[in-house]
Amino acid sequence: MVVGKIWRISGPLVIAENMKGAQVYEVVEVGEEALIGEIIGLEGDRAIIQVYEDTGGLTVGEKVVGTGKPLVAELGPGIVGTVYDGLQRPLSELEVLVGPFVKRGVRAHPLSRDKKWHFTALIKPGEKVSGGDIIGTVPETPLIEHKIMVPPDIRGVVKEVVSEGDYTIEETIAVVECGGEKYELKMYHKWPVRKPRPSKVKLDPEEPLITGTRVIDYMFPLAKGGKAAIPGGFGTGKTVALQQLTKWSHSQLSIYVGCGERGNEMADALHSFLKLKDPRSGRPLREKAVFIANTSNMPVAARETSVFMGITMGEYFRDMGYDVLLVADSTSRWAEAMREISGRLEEMPGEEGFPAYLASRLAEFYERAGRVECVGRPPRIGSVTVVGAVSPPGADFSEPVTQNTLRIIQTLFALDVALANRRHFPAINWLISYSLYVDTVEKWWRKIDPEWKEVRATAMRLLQEEAELQEIVRLVGPEALPEKDKLTLEVARMIREDFLMQSAFHEVDTYSPPEKTHLMMKTVIRFYERAKKVLEMGITVDEIRKLPVKYRIARMKEIPYNKVESEIKKIWLQMDQEFKKLVAEKMG
Ligand SMILES: Nc1ncnc2c1ncn2[C@@H]1O[C@H](COP(=O)(O)OP(=O)(O)OP(=O)(O)O)[C@@H](O)[C@H]1O
Ligand SMILES: [Mg+2]
Repeated sequence: MVVGKIWRISGPLVIAENMKGAQVYEVVEVGEEALIGEIIGLEGDRAIIQVYEDTGGLTVGEKVVGTGKPLVAELGPGIVGTVYDGLQRPLSELEVLVGPFVKRGVRAHPLSRDKKWHFTALIKPGEKVSGGDIIGTVPETPLIEHKIMVPPDIRGVVKEVVSEGDYTIEETIAVVECGGEKYELKMYHKWPVRKPRPSKVKLDPEEPLITGTRVIDYMFPLAKGGKAAIPGGFGTGKTVALQQLTKWSHSQLSIYVGCGERGNEMADALHSFLKLKDPRSGRPLREKAVFIANTSNMPVAARETSVFMGITMGEYFRDMGYDVLLVADSTSRWAEAMREISGRLEEMPGEEGFPAYLASRLAEFYERAGRVECVGRPPRIGSVTVVGAVSPPGADFSEPVTQNTLRIIQTLFALDVALANRRHFPAINWLISYSLYVDTVEKWWRKIDPEWKEVRATAMRLLQEEAELQEIVRLVGPEALPEKDKLTLEVARMIREDFLMQSAFHEVDTYSPPEKTHLMMKTVIRFYERAKKVLEMGITVDEIRKLPVKYRIARMKEIPYNKVESEIKKIWLQMDQEFKKLVAEKMG
């Protein structure tokens, strides 16, 4: 065990001497209070340590003790529904709001040692097992069946296994023997947070991760196992968007990582999770969510551990064969922490003072997203989808964090200050956002609507033409436009207002299932097709604009899910009648 002493303290950074034998990324206990830190560099016998707790009060000369171990996550039943800090210490809701009460250096177990879980074994003595094999299950919450797996690095023959019953995570549930050595398996194991968990095969994304947000699902789809970023200036809706994804996504587990953002927002998110029910199961959403709260009043260095803690948990549930969504708000705060630490180390700064390793560190995080064939039996596929918020200062997307993130991700939801100012929410700019998964998810969408791709393309084209026409309108006014272009503007407005805009705070509209989303868009495009026809008969856009059915289209959002089909059918009937009437009057 290495024992050194503090040589210098600089904010969250401590340099210790006499640390010969210590390793980079080894966890150390710093000072008399044994604050948790991680060695991030070694120079001779000096160790550079980033400390994850408040370093106020530390003094030069206090001891620094190496643990010989990397920073790990405890993985087992008890994670779901819990709020953790970046070191996986459980936090109460009040602590999220005002900061942790726990005395510095005090360690609470991440997983309860007393709670009993109902374990059902799936293996028998004599069977061979190896890393990743599912040896039993625990109903962790009504929404998550926790699969107890052999830890990745263990293999052997099962010697003993407990019968079905209630056990704590410290009790041995199975004994595995290999080469004369016996391993006692428990319901949990530890895994280093900086090390990606193994998988058998990396697979390409195949299915969309439905989010319940129309502009995403229909226009810029996210894929299970994909990587996405949501950059946006101050107040453009990053936090609301990520919270919406966490709440409504068709993932089996959602992990919300708050990284350097306001504690009250995190507390609000928790409250709504307590109140809200999963629309598909009717169960409280908290039963399928994990929270990692690293709020702005917590030590900056812990922003990094919070994202790696989160992704490690994500991979662990992925390994059970689940589709996991992880959102991080905001990766910029993490990058700023890197910049602060790098600055204190007097490293050669890269762009805008960020360290040269900014790009690789961001990639280390995002690259752990993916869809995989899991290690172990029975065969299964799991995924982790990652969505990171980016907060570019002055909403300038050319800054380093946004730019480096764009190189990694495949889906961009670009938030726009002008849209947010107009209260067009979600303020996702449809002209610069993109998804590289459109072809990937086409097969899935075709099952809901064979014409999805074409209808989507028509809507995108109308929105793009609108942007071009708006230039002309600015110069010559709308009246100078031909009727055909006026119709484009009218329908593009309907797409924006009646489809893309979606209130996170409206009881019904907050979540739009894909069956509703596609019918809404189809209705608008149907209106467009009908209008185009009657335009040829000399009917004007002014006349079309006055059709009463337009008001019903504008209120489609409010139709409850179970009434969508019947209500939309009525709207289509009304639409056809009104267009017919218009033609009849014209022909009169
Ligand atoms: N989908 C939405 N529906 C309705 N209102 C929204 C929506 N998205 C954002 N808003 C409004 O915008 C406000 C700001 O959103 P939010 O806090 O998510 O922005 P942010 O980008 O996270 O800001 P910051 O840069 O301060 O972190 C919200 O309080 C809400 O009023
Ligand atoms: Mg925010």
